[in-house]
Amino acid sequence: MAIYLDNAATSFPKPESVYRSIDETLRQFGGNPGRGGHQLALDASRIVFTAREAVAGFFGISDSSRVVFTANATAAINQALFGLLNPGDRVVTTNMEHNAVARPLRALQERGVEVVKVAADARGFVAPEDFCRACSAAPTALAVLGHISNVTGTIQDLPTIGPWCHSHGVTLLVDAAQSAGLLPIDVEALGIDLLAAPGHKGLFGPVGSGFLYVRPGLELVPLLYGGTGANSHSELMPEVMPERLESGTPNTPGLAGLTAGIAWLEEIGLDAIREHESRCLSRILSGLATISGLEIYGPGDPLKSGGVLSFNLKGLDPSAVAFRLDHEFSICVRSGLHCAPEAHRAIGTYPAGTVRVSPNMMNSLEEIEAFLTAIAVIAQGR
Ligand SMILES: Cc1ncc(COP(=O)(O)O)c(C=O)c1O
Repeated sequence: MAIYLDNAATSFPKPESVYRSIDETLRQFGGNPGRGGHQLALDASRIVFTAREAVAGFFGISDSSRVVFTANATAAINQALFGLLNPGDRVVTTNMEHNAVARPLRALQERGVEVVKVAADARGFVAPEDFCRACSAAPTALAVLGHISNVTGTIQDLPTIGPWCHSHGVTLLVDAAQSAGLLPIDVEALGIDLLAAPGHKGLFGPVGSGFLYVRPGLELVPLLYGGTGANSHSELMPEVMPERLESGTPNTPGLAGLTAGIAWLEEIGLDAIREHESRCLSRILSGLATISGLEIYGPGDPLKSGGVLSFNLKGLDPSAVAFRLDHEFSICVRSGLHCAPEAHRAIGTYPAGTVRVSPNMMNSLEEIEAFLTAIAVIAQGR
């Protein structure tokens, strides 16, 4: 059995309850939610509604109709950006963002949106005062912040930036791809207007799940137009949420899995999840520190990092390290730019990138030891 240390890409394995609920939904509740009044369609609708309530409850969202289900975090971010921004608008973001943010913003820039990028330091931290200063330099339609870097694991200071944006009337989109299911996020307490997250990483749902939270009062132009199961007589998209932003058949089994993933997290508790990931990260940091010619990127402190760590072995391409870990030791990590090229420019690892290791609650400390032993062997053979 492989040792899976690529949970920043997607979490694996999932809790047993997630597998069971997906299987049960596919076998027993096979109707199309919101399309038809027969019992199997109603059962499917109930599953989707339960998932919406679960997401709302987990993120402090009082009105679950403001939770829009998407296929992944990328789709949620695209809906937020293209649904809100118009030519002439100004956006403030950072140079640590994933391509899920950087590429749509680049496309919007070509349509006349101004994009201002606040630079991070060499450990991936964006100073909140720099971010807020950039937001107040000119009227800003949107601020976009990745909560935790998927390259360095750096946790940005959302508790400072969020309330500042809220009190200064700057709409804030948070990319919680690496933090949802690891750090507590209460959208109201943190002043978040738009929250985009995958269901398939820290929330332990299956691939093909994700969501966007849209603060009440904030209206987005739909990215997708089509059937919603209601108001079928009209050529126009419904005004009501979440239907306005959810066209087409939703991923009922995936959402059942997402509900089960969130229930599993709630049972364990985020404190225990964070403590285990920090323990794994501490051990990785102390183990890697004993290997000569090995450079670690990011905060170097589990308290300031999510469950992600990047490093390089001097003299070896990161892809060669990942290849050897996979082929000789059955250990799965990711190498390269991790879809965030500018973050590598910020930390000085462009263009080769880094080796990224991302443990989670499912990893044992024995697996971490096996990983460290494998790295020591690879380092010795240089
Ligand atoms: C910071 C960050 N944002 C966005 C994404 C995109 O997530 P998804 O693959 O669910 O679209 C990722 C995925 O790795 C990520 O790490």
